Amino acid sequence: MKKEKPQSIRFDYNNMMSAYVGKKEGFTAKDLLSVREKARAAHAYVKENRGTGMMGWTELPYNQNEIVSDILLTAKAVRRKCDTFVVLGIGGSALGPMAVFQALCHLRHNDLPKSKRKAPKFYVEDNVDPERMQSLFDILDLDKTIFNVITKSGSTSETMSQYLIIMKMLKDRFGDKASEHIIATTDVQKGNLIKIAKEEGLKTFYIPDGVGGRFSELCPVGLLPAAVLGIDIKALLKGAAFMDRACRKPDYKQNPALAAAALQYLAIQKGKNISVMMPYADSLKLMADWYCQLWGESLGKSVNNQGETVYVGQTPVKALGVTDQHSQVQLYTEGPFDKVITLIGVDNYRATVEISGGCEQYPSVSFLSGHTLNELITSERIATEYALTKNERLNNSILLPEVNAHTVGQLLMFFMLQTAYIGAMLDINTFNQPGVEEGKNATYALLGRDGYQEKAAELNARTPKSDEYIIG
Ligand code: PA5
Repeated sequence: MKKEKPQSIRFDYNNMMSAYVGKKEGFTAKDLLSVREKARAAHAYVKENRGTGMMGWTELPYNQNEIVSDILLTAKAVRRKCDTFVVLGIGGSALGPMAVFQALCHLRHNDLPKSKRKAPKFYVEDNVDPERMQSLFDILDLDKTIFNVITKSGSTSETMSQYLIIMKMLKDRFGDKASEHIIATTDVQKGNLIKIAKEEGLKTFYIPDGVGGRFSELCPVGLLPAAVLGIDIKALLKGAAFMDRACRKPDYKQNPALAAAALQYLAIQKGKNISVMMPYADSLKLMADWYCQLWGESLGKSVNNQGETVYVGQTPVKALGVTDQHSQVQLYTEGPFDKVITLIGVDNYRATVEISGGCEQYPSVSFLSGHTLNELITSERIATEYALTKNERLNNSILLPEVNAHTVGQLLMFFMLQTAYIGAMLDINTFNQPGVEEGKNATYALLGRDGYQEKAAELNARTPKSDEYIIG
């Protein structure tokens, strides 16, 4: 039997080019040529460094056979034992699992009756809002719940607070058997969670070296929740490998992620400080959230690799087609020329809904009859693309033949490679996040953590707020 060719996602950058979006805003072949060498150098950097330093994530599609087997076995046992699976994590330890769940499970998964769900209900607790946590307690049946506490550093206050709360509840209820209700995913050496996991005898998965939070969806951080949900994680990894191979060429014309990086690099040089990610699919809505962290934390840097002050970055903004056509698109088409808009389209949605007949006396309503919602959403995407282009707004499109594990794996790898390439072009450290540390340290100081007395003194010495500037 002939093997079917895998469906490939497509990157369409016509509307970044002057021939389409106009000479003032659009790029010419000459513009692209001017960054060709920089792009080649970025490609060479990624190629040389893949699998080393903080670029361990490039190898995840290839080096996890054993781990995948363990994950699949664990996931099977979890599905047998529980009705609800809860991830405790934040940032990169939450956004990937949420994005893949939204993309590849039924859009109303948690609302489906058990007989139709085929996998536990799924919640990701990525905030410490007490009302939200309390509301979770109100719906959980602890007997049938398994928690997955995920933290690479093993010390993030939000996640460790949640761990403390949940572990106490579990111990009160199950005594020695509490550990059967928690799985840990963390660094093999660093941080406290690994020590706690050993003491408590928790089943533990490891986040490999060189895989930072926002690049961790394709390791156990994302694979375990996905497998518990019945998602084909082998297909997800195969999709990522497929995109990785599609990006092996050093010429941007043959490398979609490199082309996307080179174009955003040019856009940044031209003052386009905002990158809007707008999927036309509810299933990809949270993919935009995941992208925002990846793009924002990786590229927002004050210094470059030479130690020079650069203050670079491009603010990522999430939007949803068509919903945000009635909220944001006015700004995108007529506001400042400071954005690049990326539309994500889907060729074949997993459902077809026909628009019913009726209201024949109102032709401006009845013209919709006989069409499908599929045609409507696709027409609206094309129409928005047209309106943006007509108004000389830089835009490009990523098109998925359909949303499935393979294409989602491709999409994840596409964005991670694009981020690594543009980070290299900007000559910054793409993989650190020093700007997050100040807030983390100040929180430790405010809560009296040992070793943070100096920071507490610094905080206490800050200029007190004036009532003059507080109204009400
Ligand atoms: O990308 C990152 O490294 C961060 O956003 C982390 O994911 C986030 O701070 C959570 O960290 P941790 O997984 O160590 O709890």
